[in-house]
Amino acid sequence: LIFVCSPNNPTGTVVPGDVLLDFLDHVPPETLVVLDEAYREFVTDPRVIDGTTLLDRYPNLIVLRTFSKAYGLAGLRIGYGIASDASITNAVRQTQVPFAVTQVGQAAALACLEPQAEQQLAERVKEVTAERTRVTEALRGMGYQVPDSEANFVWLGNGEPADGGIDAVQFGKRCEAQGVIVRVFADAGVRVTIGTAQENDAFLAAALP
Ligand SMILES: Cc1ncc(COP(=O)(O)O)c(C=O)c1O
Repeated sequence: LIFVCSPNNPTGTVVPGDVLLDFLDHVPPETLVVLDEAYREFVTDPRVIDGTTLLDRYPNLIVLRTFSKAYGLAGLRIGYGIASDASITNAVRQTQVPFAVTQVGQAAALACLEPQAEQQLAERVKEVTAERTRVTEALRGMGYQVPDSEANFVWLGNGEPADGGIDAVQFGKRCEAQGVIVRVFADAGVRVTIGTAQENDAFLAAALP
């Protein structure tokens, strides 16, 4: 069993389509590949392939999506997986009862797929991705090294300040002292969720070296 998370949490980085195809071509057909696309709706990089278009070509692939992120339904606990091979979906079905989704969750997910809601989603995603670019560029302008993110957060890795790195724990404390909470991974870095323009400005002010 191999998990591929693209965009990846917590770095926001992606596996470009050509790399993913090359990888899938080298995986033995009896090995299941789970492609976690929880942040797919935030992807703007044209090099990224939509995993659901690969299912006929790779019967050992299952693509996971969620309504928890761009759709904002995390509290309702609803997502889905798509595979072309019935032996995969049947195996998932056998574990379904303890993980069943609620009727309320299903109703909300269906409402999210209505054209009007899809339009609102597109507008929200556009705002987030524009702010993601602004925050990334502002941080780079301050000297931080920030990987290109295709998710709704950006990543600052631990390292020497001269190389654009941070000390995650110290950085987290500094932000918190200014009323901004970032997700600290003590040994690795911090993940910063993209918020409203005002929230992002508060973060950028806290991040000033
Ligand atoms: C990469 C990734 N996959 C899946 C999930 C979980 O999604 P769900 O809320 O549908 O369980 C998350 C949530 O943090 C995530 O970051």
